[in-house]
Amino acid sequence: MTESQVIKVSEAAAKSTLTDAQKAAEMRAIAKEDPEGFWSGIAQRLDWSKPFSQVKDVSFDADNLRINWFQDGELNACVNCLDRHLPERADDIAIIWEGDEPDDDKKITYAEALEETCRMANVLKARGVKKGDRVVIYMPMIPEAAYAMLACARIGAVHSVVFGGFSPDALASRIEDCGATAVITADEGVRGGKTVPLKTNVDKALGKTNGVRLVLTVERTGANVSMQAGRDLFWFGEARNDVSPECPAEPMNAEDTLFILYTSGSTGKPKGVLHTTGGYLTYVAYTHEMVFDYKPGEIYWCTADVGWVTGHSYIVYGPLANGATTLMFEGVPTYPDASRFWKVIDKHKVNIFYTAPTAIRALMRERDEHVTATTRASLRLLGTVGEPINPEAWLWYYNVVGDARCPIVDTWWQTETGGVLISPLPGATDLKPGSATLPLPGVFPAIVDANGKTLEGACEGNLILTGSWPGQMRTVYGDHQRFIDTYFKTYPGSYFTGDGARRDEDGYYWITGRVDDVINVSGHRMGTAEVESALVSHPKVAEAAVVGYPHDIKGQGIYAYVTLMEGEEADAGLEKELSDHVRSEIGPIAKPDLLHFTPALPKTRSGKIMRRILRKIAENEFSSLGDTSTLADPGVVDTLIEGRKNR
Ligand code: WT7
Repeated sequence: MTESQVIKVSEAAAKSTLTDAQKAAEMRAIAKEDPEGFWSGIAQRLDWSKPFSQVKDVSFDADNLRINWFQDGELNACVNCLDRHLPERADDIAIIWEGDEPDDDKKITYAEALEETCRMANVLKARGVKKGDRVVIYMPMIPEAAYAMLACARIGAVHSVVFGGFSPDALASRIEDCGATAVITADEGVRGGKTVPLKTNVDKALGKTNGVRLVLTVERTGANVSMQAGRDLFWFGEARNDVSPECPAEPMNAEDTLFILYTSGSTGKPKGVLHTTGGYLTYVAYTHEMVFDYKPGEIYWCTADVGWVTGHSYIVYGPLANGATTLMFEGVPTYPDASRFWKVIDKHKVNIFYTAPTAIRALMRERDEHVTATTRASLRLLGTVGEPINPEAWLWYYNVVGDARCPIVDTWWQTETGGVLISPLPGATDLKPGSATLPLPGVFPAIVDANGKTLEGACEGNLILTGSWPGQMRTVYGDHQRFIDTYFKTYPGSYFTGDGARRDEDGYYWITGRVDDVINVSGHRMGTAEVESALVSHPKVAEAAVVGYPHDIKGQGIYAYVTLMEGEEADAGLEKELSDHVRSEIGPIAKPDLLHFTPALPKTRSGKIMRRILRKIAENEFSSLGDTSTLADPGVVDTLIEGRKNR
């Protein structure tokens, strides 16, 4: 497959009602000529309790950074996602919940979702949670996770969802960093036939941090969990029925914080990405409709977890703001077997399906009969997110899953961007397998070289954004300087994405991956420094260096080079011990795929680890190591190459 292969799905049966090539071009032109008018028009899709008079106030100058959208407007995100749909949609389905077991499902109407959300909001309020307080949500994929987020939004509390796969230590550091006073969790999660001890993990985390006065526990399995009197409450058994099903919504300023979501950066400490109310909600509602060509009555399914930004923007806020039916799946793609996704699509007549390349690659390895035994007749549109998709996986998704009739939207974005920035628009953009194609109307990317010079035409370099969009993050919680330094210093006047990209002769963007010390493992973002600091916190480890390497299914795997303390023995037992240690420090997603014990790391004479060499060796590219003469001990390299060949 050459990249110049173009798939003209704009003429396919799945033709969009929303956009065509001409309309998309017009929108891009308007957004460029009159950005204020453009975004002001887009923002009208929300209900504002107080209209805004100023669209934006933005400066990307690092010395005078300002990012404000719809600044003096007021609205409530929960009202926009629930209440305002009730006049027409009270009995429409807001959430289809598909449990881990195939016979376990539930449909929740907009009226029911509102009632449950109000009850949860009232429980929080009754226990003193108020506007501006931080609430950590550590939940499995059950509807109560969405209610919890919306309940916070309703009373103006700031939620911070922590992925249920994170360890008690990782949970504790996030609770600590944002100063949460309440945690909403479940007794246990259920995934792929196994349980996850969420409440027990919360108890362990709270042993390491102060300040949490309320732990609200939703009974998912009914497991016996320990409850601390005065602090812990059961949702169904205690709290839910004691409160009113109605709760007034707090009017929020557009720039009031909606949520904080931790993500990995290039240092050991995850950063609390902060999003605000008006711009974020405007942006996710707009992009959910445009990118997925969403039409009322359709069934939309995003397979992400609410613990990641994809779940925030495209399971909860975007779809619900648009009055859509959003499917929420508790399980995994391979349980009970590898046909699960396709069976769920048939069962619930899913029209729009959005998943990650890593899931596609894993399912592609299974027999095609898992797919072809299902009809997928309802499918109209497919999407991917989280990492570059290789053309081979793209074509399998297109031909086998989509029967060559559903466009694929390869959506490029980040936790920081709040919503999709680069993606095909169904019906308007011809597709090229592996390319995220073109920026959405109102988004202005550019490619720069290492010196910051803007490159024109077909080129390759680093990806920046030259102007703001409403869904952009506003700060790193508690560390505004880190926000400025990370995103606005490298290329003055622009937002630096941390990604590399190529632009072809048609102006299509091809994201090539991270150019910083962040790796992308199964679509999960991981700071190599985080894994390193987990490793060196083990008493037997002297030093560690972590890099990514190409992995067939995960996209990138975690390759850890470890030197041990004097006298320690490198063996399989210790390898498992270190792997388990990382698991307990961060979580299963951070476990090294390859652990390489080495007597030494390649360092310059000034003691700096030469990661470039470690990356090449992990990638099995021994011939292109570059200049090794500046190493303090060039002999280290041969030892490392030998060690690599043995695994
Ligand atoms: C990083 C952001 C976007 C929500 C999920 C991940 C990579 C994301 C694509 C894509 C190539 C992609 C980038 C980005 N990425 N989407 N369609 N093609 N790369 O959010 O955890 O904040 O990670 O994921 O490297 O910077 P995240």
